[in-house]
Amino acid sequence: MATTLQLHRLIPLLFIPFFLFHFAEPHTKSQPSGLYPVVLLPGSTCSQLEARLTEAYTPPSLECAALRKVDGRWFRLWKNNTELEDPSVSPCVADQLRLIFDHVADDYRNVAGVETRVLDFGSTRGFLADDDADRDLCMGKLIESLERAGYRDGETLFGAPYDFRQAPAAPGQPCRAFSQFQRRLWALIEHASRTNGNRPVVLVSHSQGGYFALEFLNRSPIAWRRKHVKHFVMASTGAGGFVLPMQAMASSVSDESPLSRSWRSVPSKFTALPSPKVFDRDMPLVITRGRNYTAHDIPEFMMAVGLPAFEVTLYETRTLPVAMNFRAPVVPTTCINGVGVPTVEKLVYWDGNFSQASDVVYGDGDGLVNLASILALDTVIGDDPRQEYYKSVKISGTSHTKVISDGAAVQHVVNEILCEEFAGQE
Ligand SMILES: *[C@@H]1O[C@H](CO)[C@@H](O)[C@H](O)[C@H]1NC(C)=O
Ligand SMILES: *[C@@H]1O[C@H](CO)[C@@H](O)[C@H](O)[C@H]1NC(C)=O
Ligand SMILES: *[C@@H]1O[C@H](CO)[C@@H](O)[C@H](O)[C@H]1NC(C)=O
Repeated sequence: MATTLQLHRLIPLLFIPFFLFHFAEPHTKSQPSGLYPVVLLPGSTCSQLEARLTEAYTPPSLECAALRKVDGRWFRLWKNNTELEDPSVSPCVADQLRLIFDHVADDYRNVAGVETRVLDFGSTRGFLADDDADRDLCMGKLIESLERAGYRDGETLFGAPYDFRQAPAAPGQPCRAFSQFQRRLWALIEHASRTNGNRPVVLVSHSQGGYFALEFLNRSPIAWRRKHVKHFVMASTGAGGFVLPMQAMASSVSDESPLSRSWRSVPSKFTALPSPKVFDRDMPLVITRGRNYTAHDIPEFMMAVGLPAFEVTLYETRTLPVAMNFRAPVVPTTCINGVGVPTVEKLVYWDGNFSQASDVVYGDGDGLVNLASILALDTVIGDDPRQEYYKSVKISGTSHTKVISDGAAVQHVVNEILCEEFAGQE
């Protein structure tokens, strides 16, 4: 269970003003509501995954074989808290959640015999988990506020869940998961726009969703972006990752629990590693007696903690080029981030034993994303001459998840979503 919690914490890595009341008037499908359609991309672990097993699947144990029949029926693989909390079932779930790097296809895929799909693509219902804690982490409060402002799921409000285990790969590298997501999101945004009087959409992301949204935008033709995206509101994503995934990486190597093994197998574990473009060469992030590691030494750090060489190569070839290429989306963009919350900034493994818990030095940030990474948004996106509109909202004393769950912060986000400033763009 500790690992489930860690997965939650590390991978994400979780009031309508008076003048808006007129939006609450009822509207019907045939009459365009006057709202700009909104498409949401939630944070990591929020998208629900369904799976089905085929004969090609080899269960890890007899217990697992007895548990779930190979009957071609779709079932909820993620997230079923009942199953994850049951020690006899969680190893079976963990085994089916693993990804394999297929050296022939040069791409990640599911374990043989496991097929997966996201639940309810197009709807926000697919990432509204039953657990209250998960609702806060997964845009539940934001969705409620948008619905109070008149938004309706499937009409004006849409969800773009994605397989959070996956990560966009460097251009030119096969990545079926991201290519499929990209095609589906193109179609969804065009549909949302067409059914709402050709109004462009407001794209809203939280945390890991920001990486998917930004890569999606940057790989879409610029004319398409300008035509279909009115505003991109990116909450709780920094321009250069954060330090905490280095700790997760170090501790995962010696953690043989099934969920930790599945986490170790997925490419999204690399996504938020601190980027050498944002964290300087003179800023040690990991300190040991013998040597320090900066964001420029992550391959050496991975070797030191005991990751196999092919993993290091995957980081260098698939993840690093994407991280180094974090750039302005060239559509009107508002970044909303919490700041002023103690955030892990340095890890100290004085004896160089990465299996031991590290000592930690805290700095500023949102509790997960370091301030350096948040401030870098202003230069990487804000200072890009092609970026015509950029706004940064920094909400002090507000954590990574509170940005989309605390009442006052949610109101900030909703105000940005409803902002009419770019209405003339059509
Ligand atoms: C979660 O797992 C339990 C036990 O296997 C099952 O009864 C329940 O239907 C599952 N929930 C979902 C949403 O699939
Ligand atoms: C590691 O960084 C710390 C803190 O910046 C510094 O005091 C120390 O001298 C560095 N150690 C090495 C081996 O470079
Ligand atoms: C490193 O720490 C772990 C956990 O405390 C311990 O079991 C192991 O023996 C240590 N390894 C060395 C080489 O000291």
